[in-house]
Amino acid sequence: MEGTVVGTRRPDNHRVQRPSSKGNFVIAFENVAYSYSGGELLSDVSLQLAPGSFHFLTGPSGSGKSTFLKLAYAELRPTTGRVTLFDRDVTSLSRDDVARTRRRIGIVHQDCKFLDHLTLAANMALPFTVSDRESDRQELDELLSWVGLKHLADALPPQLSGGERQRAARARAVIVDPDVILADEPTGNVDWEMSLRILTLLVELNRMGKTIVVATHDLNLIRQAKAQIQARVLRIAKHRVQLAGADL
Ligand SMILES: Nc1ncnc2c1ncn2[C@@H]1O[C@H](COP(=O)(O)OP(=O)(O)O)[C@@H](O)[C@H]1O
Ligand SMILES: [Mg+2]
Repeated sequence: MEGTVVGTRRPDNHRVQRPSSKGNFVIAFENVAYSYSGGELLSDVSLQLAPGSFHFLTGPSGSGKSTFLKLAYAELRPTTGRVTLFDRDVTSLSRDDVARTRRRIGIVHQDCKFLDHLTLAANMALPFTVSDRESDRQELDELLSWVGLKHLADALPPQLSGGERQRAARARAVIVDPDVILADEPTGNVDWEMSLRILTLLVELNRMGKTIVVATHDLNLIRQAKAQIQARVLRIAKHRVQLAGADL
């Protein structure tokens, strides 16, 4: 169970335990439910992600993977229950607090959006721009080299292939050096070879101590990851998030 505690209920003492668990979890859900409208999409989700853990999040299309990730970076607030990021209840965060917290979370969106009129390098520097920090061209070049895209620094996003865009999205997610990386189907539209390269990047980041959550329904990718690192699998089924067995 290293890294995750799922479905743990301590109704009698969880309040008492909270102070001593300070710093122990980067993301914690406590009896969380979420509804867009009508019925609950996610119900009674309780789990805790430890720093440095690597989790996959699986479940059929429409089961709520993207929604779960949005709750985990405070884009959505739970309908009921509590989401805690870095030991702070998201419902207590001001807009500034949310912005500060997000700086510690790198997000790789499902659709990996880029601004088509800006060069790849300029797109990569956007997280600096939005967080009011100077971007460092050398650091940027190093990151682009790391994902094998340095030669494309001055290219416009429409000139990149799907795989190149994914790698750029990955690099952009880590450029402000977050503690947590949330990736939403990062291998959605790329071939197997490219999926492996993306996985390798995520594994490297995890070895550097970053907490990783990857939403995917690619079971081969999960198997491949498990051969390399200790990754846990969370599965959404019947509105709940369960820790999957070792059968994958
Ligand atoms: N903004 C929204 N408003 C209403 N319903 C939504 C919204 N976003 C997602 N949904 C619905 O919630 C369900 C789960 O969506 P999502 O979290 O994107 O699932 P997944 O990522 O697993 O495919 C889907 O039925 C989707 O249509
Ligand atoms: Mg999704």
